[in-house]
Amino acid sequence: TPGVTPLVAGNWKMNGTAASLGEIRDVCAGLDHKDALPHETLLCLPATLIERAASVAADSVLSIGGEDCHPLESGAHTGDISAEMLADAGATAVIVGHSERRTDHSETNALVADKAKAAWRAGLSAIVCVGETREERESGNAENVVASQLAGSVPDAMNAANTVIAYEPVWAIGTGLVPSGDDIEAMHALIRRIMTERFGSEGEGVRILYGGSVKPANAKEIFSIANVDGGLVGGASLKASDFLAICEGV
Ligand code: G3P
Repeated sequence: TPGVTPLVAGNWKMNGTAASLGEIRDVCAGLDHKDALPHETLLCLPATLIERAASVAADSVLSIGGEDCHPLESGAHTGDISAEMLADAGATAVIVGHSERRTDHSETNALVADKAKAAWRAGLSAIVCVGETREERESGNAENVVASQLAGSVPDAMNAANTVIAYEPVWAIGTGLVPSGDDIEAMHALIRRIMTERFGSEGEGVRILYGGSVKPANAKEIFSIANVDGGLVGGASLKASDFLAICEGV
């Protein structure tokens, strides 16, 4: 998208221990030998790794994010982590509404919207995820599903700096399946239209990432599609060499 700095973001999900910090060191080293990168780079990590990863990445262009947050700032919510805690640990962004959270924890659009507001309250940017299931695509409902997820999960105070939209078709996550270029283009065009109609120039400038089986072999092609402003990468973000190769595709 003209005038928009692409973002390549990784999502480690429930993977990674101290032994994985070397991958982060390698990502930083791989990015930092370049003078001017054409994109921003972010790794969203399990909360247990954020502080250590942020210190590894402190002098690097790599940013560190969380994978989820609680809507409240603090309180009696055993096991939950607030956006303020993520920021305190060194995160600058957080994923909200990933399909695995929507499924495993029955997260609703309204809850996802509250989490996005929590992210902003803590000074983090929110990566709001949307995407249809296989059944929803096969029954011709993909566009309606994504439109209603956007309507319900993106709060009114969204702007192009505090929010990123990630389109992740559920059936493409971790499966090696990727929609056709035409299907990605059509969905990203729809998302752009919806965001622009509701938010004007902020919607024109918001980054729309594609996620779902992005690999070194397909990244360049996917990133060249109109309204694809980078990617949200799962499995292939766990290895520095793969993640760096994907970044080369921007
Ligand atoms: O959030 C990224 C993710 O859901 C995509 O996962 O493993 O298909 O790249 P993967």
